[in-house]
Amino acid sequence: MSELEALEQRALAELQVCADEAALRAWNTHYLKGELDRAVKMVGSLPPAERPIYGKRANEVKKKLNEAYETAAAAEKERALERSLTSDALDVTLPGRPARRGRLHVSTQTLRSIYAIFADLGFQIYRSSEVEDDETNFGLLNMPEHHPARDMWDTFHTTKPGVLLRTHTSPGQIHVMRELCPQPIRVILPGMCYRYEAITMRSEIMFHQVEGLAIGERVTMADLKGTLIAFARRLFGDQRKVRIRSSYFPFTEPSIEVDMDCIVCSGEGCGLCKRSGWLEILGAGMVHPVVLRNGGYDPERFSGFAFGMGPERIAMLTYAIDDIRQFWSNDLRFLQQFGA
Ligand code: PHE
Repeated sequence: MSELEALEQRALAELQVCADEAALRAWNTHYLKGELDRAVKMVGSLPPAERPIYGKRANEVKKKLNEAYETAAAAEKERALERSLTSDALDVTLPGRPARRGRLHVSTQTLRSIYAIFADLGFQIYRSSEVEDDETNFGLLNMPEHHPARDMWDTFHTTKPGVLLRTHTSPGQIHVMRELCPQPIRVILPGMCYRYEAITMRSEIMFHQVEGLAIGERVTMADLKGTLIAFARRLFGDQRKVRIRSSYFPFTEPSIEVDMDCIVCSGEGCGLCKRSGWLEILGAGMVHPVVLRNGGYDPERFSGFAFGMGPERIAMLTYAIDDIRQFWSNDLRFLQQFGA
């Protein structure tokens, strides 16, 4: 009996110092399943008279230790939860990992600024196909077969005779004219063009152009000049000066090339403008009577102007990009520099 009492005391004392789940489990094995079990079975070896009292007491001890164990185990579980909540705490105020966002290609951004300016000036956007026939890309633009001016555009031909990748957006002029004739026209025709050229810092085999076309009964060179000056000032700043040089294109007469005073040195002369003070921004002219007629317009009654500019070239001037190959190289280090 006294052993039973001693066992109870020892077990309870030791339970107090069990510091974690493993210690509790060890205690359970040692006392409840070990010593106490053996003490209970002891009852069989006692004189029959002592058995009931011993048995009763043993059951009480067993019940007490079981309860004490349950309480200790529950308390330990509570402490374990508390520990994991503090040590594995999730800091919801930590800034997240930045998500990579795409952005518009620098050419698309430039195109959109060009569209916005011409929209303000009353021009609509008209699109035509990148795959053209020889006749529309050259012939109807006043360059019959074997015309030497065709050499100005080195051409990608397809395997189908007479079908090619357009070398400029000018064939779009024919499409708009034939669709809208005899209404007045004020459109821009943006899109990709292709030329069979060696790829260098200054030339690419594919690039955008934005063509402009205005046709009406009294469209003059002064309208062309006014439109281009307004465009240059909106895109590059109020102070821009525009210079017109005579030039040659088979589909315009007279033909001009338009320069703008250098955005870096304002005409002083610097590396960008190669000391000339001027940057070439586009080719233009009054629509040739033959082209007007090919589009369905009577050149005796109608006149028009046309221009063609390269958005990549404009982006190169705006952002001082010195190598045109950057545009289609898909180098993120280049592309990511252009916001929006
Ligand atoms: N199509 C010409 C080119 O590609 C540019 C141009 C367009 C010139 C319209 C005059 C008028 O070089």
